[in-house]
Amino acid sequence: MTDSSVPDVPASGASFPDTNSASAALYQRALRVMPGGNSRHTVFFKPYPVYAARGRGARVWDEDGVERIDLINNYSSLIHGHNHPRIVEAIVAQAQNILSIALPTRKEIELAEIVTDRVPGVEQIRFCNSGTEGVMFAIKAARAYTNRPKIAKIEGAYHGSDDTAGISTGPTPDKWGDAEAPASVAPAGTGPGAAQDVVILPMNEVETARRIIRAHASELAGVILDPLVKNLGYEPATPAFVKMLREETSRCGAMLIFDEVYSFRLGFNGAQGAVGVTPDLTAMGKIIGGGLPVGAVGGRAPLMTELFDPRTGKPKLGHGGTFNANPMTMAAGVVAMELFDRESFDRLSVLSDRFRAGLREAVKIAGVPATVKGSASMTSLFHVEGEAHNYRDVVSMMRSNASASQRAEAFFNHMLNNGILMGAPGFFVFSTAVTDADIDHTLDKALNALRKLDK
Ligand SMILES: Cc1ncc(COP(=O)(O)O)c(C=O)c1O
Repeated sequence: MTDSSVPDVPASGASFPDTNSASAALYQRALRVMPGGNSRHTVFFKPYPVYAARGRGARVWDEDGVERIDLINNYSSLIHGHNHPRIVEAIVAQAQNILSIALPTRKEIELAEIVTDRVPGVEQIRFCNSGTEGVMFAIKAARAYTNRPKIAKIEGAYHGSDDTAGISTGPTPDKWGDAEAPASVAPAGTGPGAAQDVVILPMNEVETARRIIRAHASELAGVILDPLVKNLGYEPATPAFVKMLREETSRCGAMLIFDEVYSFRLGFNGAQGAVGVTPDLTAMGKIIGGGLPVGAVGGRAPLMTELFDPRTGKPKLGHGGTFNANPMTMAAGVVAMELFDRESFDRLSVLSDRFRAGLREAVKIAGVPATVKGSASMTSLFHVEGEAHNYRDVVSMMRSNASASQRAEAFFNHMLNNGILMGAPGFFVFSTAVTDADIDHTLDKALNALRKLDK
């Protein structure tokens, strides 16, 4: 978005942390009423998070009036940055008509038409309110359709807060078992029953994963894969791995589920368009809601109809939800998706490629251990060096490099104090509002930040 009232490069001059800042005071207030002052662990950083006041395009201003380029975009969901005028207009118009109602609206059909036209494996879709729910319903759909209990997932992959999907998201070496047969590790708060029905696969290990899938074939309802795993630094599933999963699921009658809540950004036709493999079910979220809460499950039409069609009197799989397909989200999503056309997808990818190349160059010049990865509009910068392609590699690398997390924190703070908001662990997710000047500014500040890090 271009806006002549917004300068090309933001003013810096923040001084974080600052105990006299408005954000520090707000955090003290938050501490009294929320555990750790927080409702979302991913947005917390030490010693206190900066509080957002307003945003516009690629810019965000905090409660102290400090302006930054937003290069995380609510962990992917703000595909057009903040307050795109056409999205705001659609939201206002919708708010003047209906906020929410116990009836369907035409906006739900419009968004469904856009997504089903665009994503090969989504012939029909149902909306909910978060990616977690989209994943949860995709898993339930696989179980209901196959009448089988087990779901296979990738070790270390994050799929939201559903009990099944949450198994082995972050297992520790003392619990993770043999690499050839990884253990199913339930996090705190998840009963052991959930782990019994989850089979863990090592990322991109084609033959090991094939053997594990075959060993559980008769009980396997589905395999869930995020084609670009964020917490492995946007590690892509290899073509051979995806092909094997498609073959093996088809062979044993299990559902191949893609979690495209985040990685929908990978291709104009979603991650499945980019990898060229069509899953049976797809979980969605984030950008399809235009910045408002959203989730969805989509899939092949016969499967979706068999499970969810209410005309049968009693659908096989119940799917209520007071705010499902809520008209505010649907209205925002329709405009956001219309605006995210092939041309803006391509432009964003070119911009992000240039950013990754610049960041790699900056790492080289600064001579610090760091790795830049990513695809399309998603980029990671981890402060370790070397090859790490699966969860165990990443954990070992972080453990053998004790100062990596301090370097990540120092880098993040430097960027925060120089006009850039990124994801604290090392993530950048661009919006279409980002300009070439924003990239140049960010690369300049990144080089300064990298030069200041301990080697
Ligand atoms: C791959 C993936 N799946 C599911 C989710 C959960 O989505 P939500 O946070 O909307 O519940 C996320 C959230 O970041 C995600 O990255």
